[in-house]
Amino acid sequence: MTDTTPLPLSALIRERTKDAHSSSEGAGFMSSLLRGERSRDDYIALVAQHFFIYAALESGADRMREDPIAARFITNRLTRLPAIEADLEFLLGPDWRDRITALDATARYATRIEQVAETWPGGFVAHHYTRYLGDLSGGLHIGRVIKRQFGFDTNGARFYVFDDVADPTEFKNAYREQLDDAPWAEDERERVIAEVLCAYRFNTEVFEQLAEAHSPGGVVVG
Ligand code: HEM
Repeated sequence: MTDTTPLPLSALIRERTKDAHSSSEGAGFMSSLLRGERSRDDYIALVAQHFFIYAALESGADRMREDPIAARFITNRLTRLPAIEADLEFLLGPDWRDRITALDATARYATRIEQVAETWPGGFVAHHYTRYLGDLSGGLHIGRVIKRQFGFDTNGARFYVFDDVADPTEFKNAYREQLDDAPWAEDERERVIAEVLCAYRFNTEVFEQLAEAHSPGGVVVG
C-alpha cells in the first residue's frame, strides 16, 4: 500500500521554502554584516526596518487575537516592538522616531502584513512564522555576532534577546505542532506556503535595498 499521508505542514513549508531561505540568508547585506564589514549606521538602518516590519506584525497580532486559528500562534512572549524601540533609542537618541524611514521594500512588506492581518488568518500566520521562527533560529546567532561586533551588552541588540523563551528549540517544536494541527484544507495550506515564500522575498528585497542605500564601506569589490 502506498502511504498517502500528507507531510505535516511544518515539514512541507520547510521543504518548499528551503531555497527562498537560502536567498534571504545569503543576501549581500546580511552576509557582509555578519562578516563584520558593515558600519554601526548600516546596522541601525536594519534595526529601523525591523521597527516598521514588527509594528505591522504586532498590530496585526492584536487584530488577529480573536481569530480561533491565528490566536494559537500569538503570544506576548514573542513581542519584539518594545525591544526594537529601546534599541533605537539607545542607538539614535530620544528623537529616533524622526530619524528613521522605511525603505520602499519595507513599506511594501509592512503593507502586505497589514492587508493579511485584516482579512486572512492563514496569511497572517505565514508572516508570523517567517519572522519569529527565523528570529528564534538564525536570529539568535546573528544577535551574538552583532553584540560582539559593535560591543553591545544588551542595549542596542535587545531585539535578539527573547527573555520569555527559555528554550527556543522547544518553543519552535510546539509552534510547528500548531502549524501541523491547523485545520486548513489542502488548498489553504498551499496558499499559506505561497505566502511564506512571499515573506521570504520581502526580506530579501529589504536586504537588497539596504545594500543599495548603504554602500559597503571597507568591502573589497571585484
Ligand atoms: C544570515 C542569516 C540567517 C541565518 C544564519 C539563518 C540560519 C537559520 C538556521 C540555522 C535555521 C535552522 C534552525 C532550526 O532547525 O531550528 C533557520 C531556520 C529558519 N530561518 Fe533562518 N537564517 C538566516 C536568515 C533568515 C531570514 C532573513 C529569515 C526570514 C525572515 C529566516 C527565517 C527562518 C525560518 C522561518 C526558520 C525556521 C524554519 C523551520 O524550521 O520551520 N532566516 N535559519
